[in-house]
Amino acid sequence: MSQAMLRVEGVGKSFPGVRALDGVDFDLRPGEVHVLVGENGAGKSTLIKMLSGAHQPDEGSILVDGAPTRITSASEAQRLGIATIYQEFNLVPELSVAENLMLGRPPRRWGLVDRKRMRREAEELLDRVGLDLDPARRTSTLGIAQMQLVEIAKALALDARVLIMDEPTAVLTTGEVDRLFALVDRLRDRGVGIVFITHHLEEIPRIGDRVTVMRDGRVVGGAPATAPEEELITMMVGRSISQQYPREAAEAGEPLLQVEGLTRAGAFEDVSFEVRAGEVVGVAGLVGAGRTEVARALFGADRYDSGRVLVRGRPLPAGDVHAAMESGLGLVPEDRKSQGLVLDADIAENLGIVTLGHGARAGFVNRKGRRDAADRVAGQLGVKMSGLGQRVRTLSGGNQQKVVIGKWLLAESSVLILDEPTRGIDVGAKVEIYQLINALTESGHAILMISSDLPEILGMSDRVLVMSRGRLAGELPAAEATQDSVMTLAVSGMEEAHV
Ligand SMILES: Nc1ncnc2c1ncn2[C@@H]1O[C@H](COP(=O)(O)OP(=O)(O)OP(=O)(O)O)[C@@H](O)[C@H]1O
Ligand SMILES: [Mg+2]
Repeated sequence: MSQAMLRVEGVGKSFPGVRALDGVDFDLRPGEVHVLVGENGAGKSTLIKMLSGAHQPDEGSILVDGAPTRITSASEAQRLGIATIYQEFNLVPELSVAENLMLGRPPRRWGLVDRKRMRREAEELLDRVGLDLDPARRTSTLGIAQMQLVEIAKALALDARVLIMDEPTAVLTTGEVDRLFALVDRLRDRGVGIVFITHHLEEIPRIGDRVTVMRDGRVVGGAPATAPEEELITMMVGRSISQQYPREAAEAGEPLLQVEGLTRAGAFEDVSFEVRAGEVVGVAGLVGAGRTEVARALFGADRYDSGRVLVRGRPLPAGDVHAAMESGLGLVPEDRKSQGLVLDADIAENLGIVTLGHGARAGFVNRKGRRDAADRVAGQLGVKMSGLGQRVRTLSGGNQQKVVIGKWLLAESSVLILDEPTRGIDVGAKVEIYQLINALTESGHAILMISSDLPEILGMSDRVLVMSRGRLAGELPAAEATQDSVMTLAVSGMEEAHV
């Protein structure tokens, strides 16, 4: 067994009100993929930020090639050959892809930036990660998977020996995950040591060599990547989960949401469906099938060309979010960072944002009532926080997500559209969210759930709508929805597109 290239010993780190890391030991050998898992807020991101120079440990030590080392800045980490791809990317959106790849060290000739060489080197790097695009393109125009590959290309440019990836697959489609894994395999073969954080436990045996489990700032166990999933879940959440998808279908009542012939040229066409009280209707499809676009349009956040949306039988004015919310429609958006949260406000304020107006009494806002309600929802969702006054920016990724969901739960919308509701959420908290979905439908709410997580769609939907290239390709009752039947519909009409 080769010696660890990177070793963390007894590392601790506190933030105001939180012991984020406590006596953590961790190591990484050349040519291995070491997977790091744990509940939201367990300390995974904090641990890797110690290795990338973003945080300093309060106690304990970091050893690089056996020698105690202080990693005091990102450039120091870079010099040591450690590259990190964060949960939030680090690319500069206004710059070109080539400029991002050569950030801070463009090739020069006679003192000037050598544009031609920069372009050639960028092309080579993009080629190594299998990305076929013009290096002169503005980075802001790229899709998420492309940005991620650019980040990896950047790490390759620095000749990183250690590559750290924080939930790289959270935003990728199945095909993109396959490509990422092929790339990771190649890097591993070249001796790069890789730390890989994920909430998708099924990825562990596919990509990992061994796995370390964290809980509440501590390492609670380690296992080979082939360990049974249940064993890892029990270590992660401290109990076993008997049922990952606890859906109990409720009786379907009157239609609460009706969508008729919704069309926007170039995005979606003739989309019609309804969601009844008590139902969970899942929306499956490949990324780019138009699911988010339809959701945003029917909620009034984007325009549409023709068609109608009715809530409780009453037509909604197009493009009017306020009218939609007043009629009882709610949307938990896919892109929470830009649409769901005010990062510099605290949890209480974020939870209150959509409920402003409700709970107002004789012109005064009922602060106590609002606070109690916020407390209750944060508790139900198990938001890991030091208190409702914690700034959302300092919450872990998954806990930020729970706050967005909580916000809409507090708004008590009768029809709730959830766009990728459990992205980045740990296994235990997922089950909590599913139970909340059950409780909502039992009390007569209707749920439209867009998800790229097929097991989640199959496990939680009473009916499944499948979209393909902007059209509704079909509808399946829960009993007929299987991985195969859904995927067949999802790729229908795509043959001519060679996808
Ligand atoms: N800058 C900060 N200020 C205050 N608290 C922080 C800060 N950064 C992290 N924390 C807290 O430290 C704890 C660990 O957070 P961390 O981001 O490491 O979790 P994680 O395991 O990556 O979770 P997730 O799966 O949700 O991404 C959390 O309670 C978080 O709120
Ligand atoms: Mg994290």
